Amino acid sequence: MSSFLHQRSLQAASSDTFELSPRSRQNYQKPTVALLSRGPALLLLLLSLLVILGVIFPYLQSPISLFSFKSWSSGSKWREYTLPDAAAYVAKNNTLIVCAVSEAYLPFLNNWLISIARQKQQDKVLVIAEDFATLYKVNERWPGHAVLVPPALEAAAAHKFGSQGFFNFTARRPRHLLQILELGYNVMYNDVDMVWLADPFPYMEGEHDVYFTDDMAFVKPLNHSHGLPPPGKKGRPYICSCMIYLRPTPGAKLVMKKWIEELQAEPWSKAKKANDQPGFNWALLKTAAQVDMYLLPQTAFPTGGLYFRNKTWVKETKGMHVIIHNNYIVGFEKKIKRFRDYGLWLVDDYASESPLGKI
Ligand SMILES: *[C@@H]1O[C@H](CO)[C@@H](O)[C@H](O)[C@H]1NC(C)=O
Ligand SMILES: *[C@@H]1O[C@H](CO)[C@@H](O)[C@H](O)[C@H]1NC(C)=O
Ligand SMILES: *[C@@H]1O[C@H](CO)[C@@H](O)[C@H](O)[C@H]1NC(C)=O
Ligand SMILES: *[C@@H]1O[C@H](CO)[C@@H](O)[C@H](O)[C@H]1NC(C)=O
Repeated sequence: MSSFLHQRSLQAASSDTFELSPRSRQNYQKPTVALLSRGPALLLLLLSLLVILGVIFPYLQSPISLFSFKSWSSGSKWREYTLPDAAAYVAKNNTLIVCAVSEAYLPFLNNWLISIARQKQQDKVLVIAEDFATLYKVNERWPGHAVLVPPALEAAAAHKFGSQGFFNFTARRPRHLLQILELGYNVMYNDVDMVWLADPFPYMEGEHDVYFTDDMAFVKPLNHSHGLPPPGKKGRPYICSCMIYLRPTPGAKLVMKKWIEELQAEPWSKAKKANDQPGFNWALLKTAAQVDMYLLPQTAFPTGGLYFRNKTWVKETKGMHVIIHNNYIVGFEKKIKRFRDYGLWLVDDYASESPLGKI
């Protein structure tokens, strides 16, 4: 009986969830055809099983609901969906927009997606799901736009800033980005506590290897340099690892490899509560001579430490802002409140604009 259930759930899944996925259908329909071709006896057996099942199914008080079967079976399909598959399916103009999220951040993901959809760039978005719940939820609503690079992260650990779980979560970013570069794509990485107010791609001027934004909150002149800023008190610059654009060049790959090395050299410890940003800055500093780097304009890509804290500056630079980052604040609820206060929490009123709908 359980193998029959399995079969049935796979069919149910293949007929709705996977409609848009090019690779899935054949796999799941073949076994049915093979079974039926063995003759009418088997068909009769199947039919009678179906009847029996129809009678007893409603009385089954086990956790084995149709729903869990469905998500389990669709999960087994998406488990085999690899980063190369997903990148090939999602990339437009050889370019991907990538984020990495765990289930707790789905509201932020949706908020970010609404803002991207308003710039008509959502088709390029690939969500790197850190847990299976995220993988299923995104792909159920938006087939093919989420991928999980194993291993999956343990849910509870993943979203506390400064925790080892958070470090593990962010430490995998450069690996994912390097793999995408090795596959030959341009990639824009964003944290999902960001909101787009305009299309950032026109700002990725020239043919540099790596584009990034400063996380320093002091106001710079409009004509500030586009080079890597000089090191600060800690001996390294304060570039944000939250928004990075990379071209698939040897220079960009070198920065990712160096970043991975730096994270390995200085892994998480209770005392330091590291996140991945210092490692990124050491990597930039140490490769600056070999890599063509471009600091994006502050007016377009301000740190949250400036945008949310200096009304004068915001007024002076009105109409020039492109991506707003909700950082320089700790805590899930505080971030949501701040976005609401500034009219940037879009999920309450505009969820229908998201490719995921209300989530
Ligand atoms: C495709 O990418 C190139 C180079 O990055 C860019 O100049 C061009 O505008 C893009 N075209 C579209 C349709 O997005
Ligand atoms: C983080 O990664 C380390 C090393 O891979 C592992 O030993 C540890 O259990 C992980 N911790 C969490 C909370 O995910
Ligand atoms: C920016 O403009 C000021 C005033 O015109 C000038 O002195 C300065 O050298 C410029 N800086 C850069 C980095 O071009
Ligand atoms: C806020 O912005 C104004 C206008 O750009 C600038 O003159 C001032 O120094 C900024 N204040 C702080 C605290 O950075």
